[in-house]
Amino acid sequence: MEVNGKHYRTIWLDKEHPLAVSIIDQSRLPFEFSIKKIFTCGEMIRSIKEMEVRGAGLIGAAGSYGMYLAAMEAPLNRGFMPYVHKSAAKLKRSRPTAINLEWAVNRVLRAIESAGSYTEKQRASLQEAQNIADEDAEAGRKMGINGLPLIEKASNHKKGKTVNILTHCNAGWLALVDYGSALSPVYAAHKKGIDVHVWVDETRPRNQGAFLTAWELSKAGIPHTVITDNEGGLLMQKKMVDMVIVGSDRTTHTGDVANKIGTYLKALAAYDNNIPFYVAVYSSSFDWISSDGLKNIPIEQRSGDEVRFITGLDKTGKETRVSIVPGDSPVSNYAFDVTPAKLVTAIITDRGVCKADKKSIVSMFPDKFNTNG
Ligand code: MRU
Repeated sequence: MEVNGKHYRTIWLDKEHPLAVSIIDQSRLPFEFSIKKIFTCGEMIRSIKEMEVRGAGLIGAAGSYGMYLAAMEAPLNRGFMPYVHKSAAKLKRSRPTAINLEWAVNRVLRAIESAGSYTEKQRASLQEAQNIADEDAEAGRKMGINGLPLIEKASNHKKGKTVNILTHCNAGWLALVDYGSALSPVYAAHKKGIDVHVWVDETRPRNQGAFLTAWELSKAGIPHTVITDNEGGLLMQKKMVDMVIVGSDRTTHTGDVANKIGTYLKALAAYDNNIPFYVAVYSSSFDWISSDGLKNIPIEQRSGDEVRFITGLDKTGKETRVSIVPGDSPVSNYAFDVTPAKLVTAIITDRGVCKADKKSIVSMFPDKFNTNG
């Protein structure tokens, strides 16, 4: 996507310094657009944990480049594979909910295992990481193409009047390598001249909606309004929302959707108000083994400080972090929730749109079912 007239992906290998992986440091947005170089697998793990890179697709790509860095720093002797395996385990533990991470790390691990010499293993890790990044960007583009007709249909139904789309968290290009998942059809609709407006949930506690989605939409010139996380229900009752589109960190092949905390409540409100609730999911975000989302998907719990403190700009434009919870009050911080398949109207995938049930998902991806992707 374009930032100030220049095309960026969210992660890339620096051509002049092939031992440095470049990222857009999302922990600095929207205050500063800053590019950071990552030199070691350990730094990549830290970057994933601290959410300098975040969003299911991008975490997957970051994990795969992390494996490349591990292969480059591993000792070129019998210690090579143990080092690589240990790094893979640490990377996979860094954020447990988005299945893209585990999937991508395993994929690079398999490429390393099947290559011959140490040099070939290093080369294979780079090639596979680059394949994963390219495929992720392409899947984002395809979700845009496949989701566009849903927005077009709503626009025709409203005789060209504004289509109001509610989204939660950030499932735009910052969450993948490019294009995004939930926002990719919105970008495609805007490009086609369809009148769209996006209700952006602020998404406490990390504010990915207010900080990242609003920033992305502003850069793309797409009309949007940031709302509190609790406003969506009222807007739906007042018929000010035509559809909800969210992304997913992990969706079971039976259609249960794990996504940013708060998604489930939006799905309930949409269901009660007869508003379509779409989820954009691509092949690497499906869990092809687990069938019960609530029982089987590990839900990440993050530091309570994310709830206790909030960061913003003060009147002078200086970045400031303030406490918003009494010091002695305990806090809880589950980062994701699970929306049961029965609340999902349809899933927008990189291969087409399907119902949120096992039969439809498996027939869309017959080659993936019962594999780990
Ligand atoms: O905690 P984050 O910011 O990594 O969570 C991201 C989300 O929940 C996105 O909505 C999700 O990754 C779907 S888009 C691939």
